[in-house]
Amino acid sequence: MLDVIKDRRACRSFSNREVEDNKIKEIVEAGLLAPSGMNRQTPVIIVIKDKKTRDELMKLNAQILNRDMDTFYGAPVIMLVAAHKDGLSIYDGAATIENMLLEATNQGLASCWIHRAKEELELEAGRRILSFTGLNFDDYVGIGHVIVGYPTEGYKPAPKVIKENRVFIK
Ligand SMILES: Cc1cc2nc3c(=O)[nH]c(=O)nc-3n(C[C@H](O)[C@H](O)[C@H](O)COP(=O)(O)O)c2cc1C
Repeated sequence: MLDVIKDRRACRSFSNREVEDNKIKEIVEAGLLAPSGMNRQTPVIIVIKDKKTRDELMKLNAQILNRDMDTFYGAPVIMLVAAHKDGLSIYDGAATIENMLLEATNQGLASCWIHRAKEELELEAGRRILSFTGLNFDDYVGIGHVIVGYPTEGYKPAPKVIKENRVFIK
């Protein structure tokens, strides 16, 4: 397990190689199996494979950040995690996302946690893009996106340096 945890790194350059459906399914399953406060299972996972929808959501995400760039770094599959407000939504959603990132790594995929899902769900433009879910977005808070795919050839993140003085044992 620790090997997978060590292997998981934020990828910021993806190729357009398609992601196999069985891998997406297992990442989603990992997310659904995450712990949640009082087992309320508040998170929902919105998987976006459709290129047009992906690009629309990316443009909105970049607009929220006020940057003219692909904030999904070319990743072909975007999984937006939102959580029902009736529960420990942010904690539940974060646990879901981390499970998904680790399973993506386990599947040999590159991934990254991308922010600004909260704003997307608050904005009318985001609600329109995600209207295919039929969700009432007044009841959900956007937590984040898990973007997945295969890295561009030769992509290698800098080695991770763990900050000191973060563990206390008596
Ligand atoms: C809550 C949260 C939000 C993040 N949002 C973004 C983001 O919007 N864009 C991005 O490139 N990386 C984002 N990241 C990834 C972090 O920048 C990355 O995890 C951090 O730099 C550590 O690198 P590592 O994941 O390779 O260990 C986010 C991570 C977390 C936990």
